[in-house]
Amino acid sequence: MRAVRWIAYGLAVAVAAAAGLVWVQRGGLARFETAQIGVSTPGGVSVGGPFTLENAAGRTVTDADFRGRYMLVYFGYTFCPDVCPTELQTMISALSSLGKEAGRITPVFITIDPERDTPKVMGEYTKLFSDRLVGLTGSAAQIAAAAKAYRVYYARAKSAQATGYLMDHSSFIYLMGPDGKLAALFGHDTDAKQLAAGLRAKLAGTS
Ligand code: NI
Repeated sequence: MRAVRWIAYGLAVAVAAAAGLVWVQRGGLARFETAQIGVSTPGGVSVGGPFTLENAAGRTVTDADFRGRYMLVYFGYTFCPDVCPTELQTMISALSSLGKEAGRITPVFITIDPERDTPKVMGEYTKLFSDRLVGLTGSAAQIAAAAKAYRVYYARAKSAQATGYLMDHSSFIYLMGPDGKLAALFGHDTDAKQLAAGLRAKLAGTS
């Protein structure tokens, strides 16, 4: 229970939340029911920040390229068997239900598995969800820096798979505001309807 409370308060972040977030990913899902986590974080820990990455066309993209627009960000990897495709689908479904307003939000998928997720792989994968979904990869160091800024935990899973390695990673959907700062954070169990409602409220300035 303490872990639940700690994550709910902190989320974010934390800190290294490594341990806590892995717990969320691996076993605490059913009990982790906060659909939208408060943006404020303990100790003034910030979430989000500068990044320099590469898009599917192999062009350098930075956080500054998105300034003035909302960015809906998810970190994961294309080889992910379940969580990532589910979350990306949730994002795209939520945006679809916003209609025209969705144009104010750019969905972004940042890989935490740059070794396999080349620009080409990212481009092919993101198209499966939406032409609007921006896939970003980069060098291992660039990905590490972006993940650090967003307090994302990731690591290669120890379990051996016949088809290749899996990655453990934290799973949150980040809404970044036009100013580049975190506007909202959505937990793992947020469904498309809840996400759409959260986004709508932010776009309307009512939350
Ligand atoms: Ni995943």
